[in-house]
Amino acid sequence: MKIMIAGNRGQLGSDSEIVLGTDHELLAIDLDELDITNLSDVQNVVQDFSPHVILNCAAYTLVDKCETEKELAWNVNVIGPKNLALSVGKYGGRLIHKRSEMPSTNM
Ligand SMILES: NC(=O)c1ccc[n+]([C@@H]2O[C@H](COP(=O)([O-])OP(=O)(O)OC[C@H]3O[C@@H](n4cnc5c(N)ncnc54)[C@H](OP(=O)(O)O)[C@@H]3O)[C@@H](O)[C@H]2O)c1
Repeated sequence: MKIMIAGNRGQLGSDSEIVLGTDHELLAIDLDELDITNLSDVQNVVQDFSPHVILNCAAYTLVDKCETEKELAWNVNVIGPKNLALSVGKYGGRLIHKRSEMPSTNM
């Protein structure tokens, strides 16, 4: 199976890469290669790799800073997963995503 791991240098992403890498074809990338807040970049990568599954391990995880960095937290934790979802909707595949902590106010 072709699996794309977004945020592969984080805790969940790095462990997932180790576990899944033995049996699957991986595209394991992080922020320096793909910023999931950029829809066109996400679509280009998904179109090129055509993953069966995207595992979203990319997140803004500095929970306390989410109070002051609301826009960044929103973009990474909401717009990013939306971009991944739109991309599998357009090019096929499944998205696996676990909800991240978010600021309490609406953006
Ligand atoms: N850790 C766990 O035990 C665990 C368990 C279950 C679920 N989760 C969930 O899994 C997700 C990741 O958690 P984690 O603990 O692995 O977090 P983490 O260690 O902070 O890793 C998050 C990764 O996402 C990257 N990233 C940040 N902004 C990005 C962007 N715009 N585009 C692409 N990549 C970006 C980060 O890069 P930089 O470091 O360069 O910012 C980092 O490598 C969260 O949603 C969390 O709730 C975690």
